[in-house]
Amino acid sequence: MQELKITGGRRLSGELTISGAKNAVLPILAASLINGGVTVIENAPRLTDVESSLEILRTLGCEARWSQGNIYIDSQNATRCRIPSSLTGKMRSSVIFLGAILARFRSAVISAPGGCELGARPVDIHLRAMRALGASVYELAGDIYASCEEPQGGFITLPFPSVGATENAMILASSARGVTVIKNAAREPEIRDLADYLRALGVGVYGAGTANITVSGRDSFNKYVSHRVIPDRIEAATYLACVCAAGGSATLKCVRPDDMRSVLEVFRAMGAELRASGDELSIAVNGSLRSPGGVVTAPFPGFPTDAQPPVCAALLFCGGVTEVTETIFENRFSYAPELRKMGGDIKISGTRASIGGGSALHGECVSARDLRGGAALMVAAVGAGGESRISGLEHIKRGYADPEGALKALGAEVLLIQ
Ligand code: EPZ
Repeated sequence: MQELKITGGRRLSGELTISGAKNAVLPILAASLINGGVTVIENAPRLTDVESSLEILRTLGCEARWSQGNIYIDSQNATRCRIPSSLTGKMRSSVIFLGAILARFRSAVISAPGGCELGARPVDIHLRAMRALGASVYELAGDIYASCEEPQGGFITLPFPSVGATENAMILASSARGVTVIKNAAREPEIRDLADYLRALGVGVYGAGTANITVSGRDSFNKYVSHRVIPDRIEAATYLACVCAAGGSATLKCVRPDDMRSVLEVFRAMGAELRASGDELSIAVNGSLRSPGGVVTAPFPGFPTDAQPPVCAALLFCGGVTEVTETIFENRFSYAPELRKMGGDIKISGTRASIGGGSALHGECVSARDLRGGAALMVAAVGAGGESRISGLEHIKRGYADPEGALKALGAEVLLIQ
């Protein structure tokens, strides 16, 4: 299994171009099923979750491939409406295909993605949204069976602004008769990007990015669409955290600072100097950093849960103690024991972490067990003195296209061990 060998403790300096957003491209890949035509996706990141989505599209009968750096999908000949469990196991967010398969085929069978290291991750809100649009849905032996003769526009009030459930509702509503209003919708930038794609298909989508989204369904769609995916705000946050941990400076290109305000606020409160100019973001960390005060994760525009692990690792290099509260997932501090092995002062109590910045971290052999936990280990390793080896790279590559190359571009001493 591949490992990253990182020799930390040296200041960073470099430039890095940020990839397209994983959590934007995945729902768009699913939605590309509905037009029965061609979708070209530019700026898509080369991630294992993207490859898994392409495999699911092929299994459903689509043509789905990379072409000159873009993703090319032709869903004209798609015929199948079942995602086999062999594929849903590869990608927990396969439930993201539910609305699209229902919209296209009026019937769908997918395996419930099940819990993972972050927590139970039920899909009840997704199913509630599908039923609100006329689908009959039931779960049996770990599979979800759904059918819907004619989706009818309607009112959906989400009990929680679930990102995936909002996306599933938007996609199924795109092919519903009439107008759908989604209340308490997720407001993440990735929702806005999906709305832009659906509008390119000819769907009327209004209010994406607010808590109330309106979708006017259609019975036919534009057959040839291209879309450029927005930058990955969590990837950008992760590499900013690396500079905070190691000190130094960097310029990130192809970012959207407006999508990262809550994260940038924390880095500034830590004492990092940040300058945004168009789609570039520069960071300089000179001298010691300080605790930013409490950090609480929340749905957008709050502090994003996905940035919590890498930022917590950076907090180990800030003077003082920081209390971090995770409100989105019930088990998102599973990486803490690995940080403690490196000498990190991180105490967990339920969904709260208390992070002390007084101890010097040292290189260690550590293991990534989930995507953003692995990102936290990368941040800690570049700041720690000495050599670290991070195993479980397959988890990290679900969300970071080229972690070795990115860290090298920032001036870190990194080696990919096969
Ligand atoms: C999306 O997951 C992201 N994944 C996650 O990123 C991200 O952490 C999450 O949104 C929150 O921002 C993708 O976009 C592919 P949710 P999703 O539905 O849609 C509960 C990463 O690291 N919930 O907003 O699954 C759920 O258990 C990944 O890139 C229900 O109770 O997140 C969780 O506690 C990790 N019932 C909370 O809501 C449901 O039906 C937020 O989940 C759905 C969700």
